[in-house]
Amino acid sequence: MDKQKKLEELNNYWQENCQCELRKTATRAVLGQGNASSEIVFIGEAPGKKEDEEGVPFVGSAGKFLSELLDSIKLKREDIYITNIVKYRPPGNRDPEPKEKEDCNEWLINELKIISPKLIVFLGRHAMSRFFPELKISEAHGKLIIKKFPEFEEKLHFLPLYHPAAALYNGGMRETLIKDFKKISKVLSPTS
Ligand code: URA
Repeated sequence: MDKQKKLEELNNYWQENCQCELRKTATRAVLGQGNASSEIVFIGEAPGKKEDEEGVPFVGSAGKFLSELLDSIKLKREDIYITNIVKYRPPGNRDPEPKEKEDCNEWLINELKIISPKLIVFLGRHAMSRFFPELKISEAHGKLIIKKFPEFEEKLHFLPLYHPAAALYNGGMRETLIKDFKKISKVLSPTS
């Protein structure tokens, strides 16, 4: 079965079975989107208002900035796969709670297993802390981490970045994110 089909089955299963309490208040699950055969997966935090309305991740202002960042390294949304640690919008866009992250965790882990990307990019501290709760985004951003987790057969490559929504209106953080983004190309094609 191809990866796209496997993802569809996974999403069908978890939309029926996810225990996340946010299902009660969200309009719908916002599923991962993009190229299931991509070498790179971006992981955000949780859907916002626009994502909840449209059912697509990163379509609001943070998403527009993300598309610009991708453009700066000659990638398109169709080239990558993008998902969130929590698939349902937290009311009022509050931070997702630990239990909500836990309830959506197996869904995310299985997405990653199916896609098996060369690089996983965390957009913001919430995504990073699912895998590296001990790290601070202010110190870890832009630094490649290679680590083996028991859920996965091989070592994985991770790149933590600031969240585009946090960087949108903060000049310093914005510059840092633009600079850190360039590291994605280096990791994907080390000789370029
Ligand atoms: N912020 C996120 O973390 N994810 C989205 O899908 C949209 C905004």
